Amino acid sequence: MVTRVALAGAGRFGALHLRAFRSLPVEVVAVCDPDPARLAAVRAESGIAAGYPSLGELLAHERVDLVDIATDEASHGDLVLEAVEAGRHVFVEKPLAMDVDQAMSIQARAAGNGVHVVTGQISRFGAAYQHIRDTLDAGELGAPVNLRFRRDFSRSWFPAFGTRVHPVWESGIHDIDLAVWYAGAPCRTVYAVQRGVSGLPNPDTFAAILTFANGVVATVESAWLVPDAAPQTLRGALELDGTIEATVEVLGERGTAAYRLAHDGLAVRTDRMTAHPEHTLWPTVAGRISGALLAELGYAVDVARGARGNDVMPVEEAVEGVRIAAAIQRSAETGTPVTLRAPEERP
Ligand SMILES: NC(=O)c1ccc[n+]([C@@H]2O[C@H](COP(=O)([O-])OP(=O)(O)OC[C@H]3O[C@@H](n4cnc5c(N)ncnc54)[C@H](O)[C@@H]3O)[C@@H](O)[C@H]2O)c1
Repeated sequence: MVTRVALAGAGRFGALHLRAFRSLPVEVVAVCDPDPARLAAVRAESGIAAGYPSLGELLAHERVDLVDIATDEASHGDLVLEAVEAGRHVFVEKPLAMDVDQAMSIQARAAGNGVHVVTGQISRFGAAYQHIRDTLDAGELGAPVNLRFRRDFSRSWFPAFGTRVHPVWESGIHDIDLAVWYAGAPCRTVYAVQRGVSGLPNPDTFAAILTFANGVVATVESAWLVPDAAPQTLRGALELDGTIEATVEVLGERGTAAYRLAHDGLAVRTDRMTAHPEHTLWPTVAGRISGALLAELGYAVDVARGARGNDVMPVEEAVEGVRIAAAIQRSAETGTPVTLRAPEERP
């Protein structure tokens, strides 16, 4: 059975999604973007029959099973709700939303309308991150005690993102989601600090300490300060060459696990640069986009066509990520710790 997909957002990542969809049992029937040039470019590249300036117009004219939302972060929540209210399953790039009440409405309305919402927390579909989770589930590390996350991005990317969104929603949300996934309990307290050094509206760095109801303590740090001369890890497919340095460490009562996203196992050197290309997220293999991106989109298609439940990325865990990200931003901006309500006290 072919799943009928509509794409909202014909930017860099939306275009990459379209390339991944070529390997899946889907027909991308329509795309929407308010930018006519982007709309025309991706329709020409992918041969998509229909284009619209907004999701509302698309949904009014097209019969689709799954809406794929790859727009900028601040627009996600409204677009997800629009698709859910129209009775469509949704895959949405991270974050699910940037407002806790809206994220909770999405969860409630999706349940009410009998549709699934899968958030593109891509790390859950990366083999090494999954292996750590499996190792925890098997009890090999004992109960988790501390989680440490660090994710640094190229300084040269920051002017584009530092005017767009607080980094907790861009880089931090990946590790917040991993913390939720590995801790296995609700988050109870958040304390965070941030620093702005480039003079842009959003801070270049933040550091947060999270405590979970089962006692797990997680540290989440992110800095957009990696210099251009650092070895490149991102090349090619995303038209955004530069560096992501991401590490995770899980300390359990009986064992530990650690992973570095890009490392020197793959090295390319020329007279002008050194690269250690990341090859797990969206590598091109035999001319096709592969890796975690293909795995998460394939998963969303399976969930939309009823071939499996949404057990890997349940919407309530995406809502928990939004709750923590919002608390980190609030704590860092006010300089005070934030206590989150226990699940039984939440509305
Ligand atoms: N998982 C990852 O590692 C990863 C990596 C890169 C980007 N992303 C996510 O992908 C999303 C898109 O990022 P990007 O870099 O492609 O951004 P981008 O700015 O290149 O593209 C966003 C596109 O969305 C369009 N748009 C804005 N509002 C819209 C609306 N209401 N309806 C339809 N289209 C609309 C814009 O015109 C633009 O073409 C973001 O949420 C980002 O966080 C995830």
